[in-house]
Amino acid sequence: MSSIHLLLNTSISPAAYNTRRSMKVENGKFSVTSNGRRVVARATVDVRSPESSASAGKLRSAEVMEAEARVLVGTYARAPVVLSSGKGCKLYDLEGREYLDMTAGIAVNALGHGDPDWVRAVTEQASVLTHVSNLYYSIPQVELAKRLTACSFADRVFFCNSGTEANEAAIKFARKLQRFSRPDVKQPPTEFISFSNSFHGRTMGALALTSKEQYRTPFEPVMPGVTFLEYGNIQAAQELIQSGKIAAVFVEPIQGEGGIYSATKEFLQSLRSACDDTGSLLVFDEVQCGLGRTGYLWAHEAYGVFPDMMTLAKPLAGGLPIGAVLLTERVAASISYGDHGSTFAGGALVCNAANTVLDKISQPEFLASVSGKGKYFKEMLMQKLGGNPHVGEVRGMGLIIGIELDVPASPLVDACRNSGLLILTAGKGNVVRLVPPLVVSEQELGRAAEILLECLPVLDKSMSN
Ligand SMILES: Cc1ncc(COP(=O)(O)O)c(C=O)c1O
Repeated sequence: MSSIHLLLNTSISPAAYNTRRSMKVENGKFSVTSNGRRVVARATVDVRSPESSASAGKLRSAEVMEAEARVLVGTYARAPVVLSSGKGCKLYDLEGREYLDMTAGIAVNALGHGDPDWVRAVTEQASVLTHVSNLYYSIPQVELAKRLTACSFADRVFFCNSGTEANEAAIKFARKLQRFSRPDVKQPPTEFISFSNSFHGRTMGALALTSKEQYRTPFEPVMPGVTFLEYGNIQAAQELIQSGKIAAVFVEPIQGEGGIYSATKEFLQSLRSACDDTGSLLVFDEVQCGLGRTGYLWAHEAYGVFPDMMTLAKPLAGGLPIGAVLLTERVAASISYGDHGSTFAGGALVCNAANTVLDKISQPEFLASVSGKGKYFKEMLMQKLGGNPHVGEVRGMGLIIGIELDVPASPLVDACRNSGLLILTAGKGNVVRLVPPLVVSEQELGRAAEILLECLPVLDKSMSN
């Protein structure tokens, strides 16, 4: 087994931290030390080279979790599972246990794990060209933008690397458009409207648009000028838009993290017409609900209401990091060279992967299958689980489904995982969120419903504890 020796340099707070760290991998062990005042961490786990992955099962999950706790920043309350491979809608942990995946990496792996066309697109592109930066042209990026504009309301595309970045870009584009289109106005509109239960990301601008207070408070001040209104409150939104201060309204046509709440057609229509009256921009965040998840290519197609900008991310490159803002020519015309950019955005590798994802998902038969499976699953869930006193509304569209409970969902999530089913929570933690790979079979959906049913009694136990 070969030995790797890396020197890591970081510029973060040199006074407070040791800035030079050394990571060594040798004879299947790795260790992290610092040449500064103190040892940052020393972790010892078996690290196997890819060729010995067959023996990876011998690497015990507990050791990985223990090492993680010592060397990673504690931002994630992870489930105690170390996943090591996947195929279709199945995932496998280090000990070889199988899990049925109703999470799709939080609505990312739309084609499931290891889709052969996706693997081919990634490996072929990786062997030719991965990254050149945006100093130069590359074919997969232009191809992806052509495809995205051909199948949407948009005239142009801006690429970035995540959902939060897509919303940051949309914030900047909205402000720029308002300045650009009102050159004689001293104070063009700079404020934003967002809604209750919204989630738009965790960087300072997108965070300011995210409704959960506990995400924002520790980091204040975030971007000023955001007003939160009740999701669906037409009158409040119309009044505020008419004030003339609003650069843009950010809204998820179907809220994901917030608890799987769908907008009404009247609500989105009223936002559209109020924005048209004042020149405010309407931004649809389809990071979670877009790209086939609802059975429509774009969730807003279900409403027949179209935005000025739409933000995308999660499933677009089938598991590789990507984000995108789709926009009309009117907005794009206000953007000049240097206004925004990113080193990695729109790289050849991710864009080639995304071209394959988009080609597959945008097929009418594929979208019809998502719609059909979504109806089948929702009806089955209502029928099987609806009689349980803890189960309230089962809601959603296509394969983004929420099951509202009258108690926290986490005991059910844990019990399902122990029975081989991975599910998510949403809302205030009382909603079970099901966002499986879009390629899931009816048989797999049936199995998921059965496991949920078998595990429901755990909610009674957690009540009595
Ligand atoms: C609707 C919505 N917008 C934005 C984001 C942020 O995306 P990312 O985690 O890629 O930054 C998310 C993530 O869950 C999301 O659901």
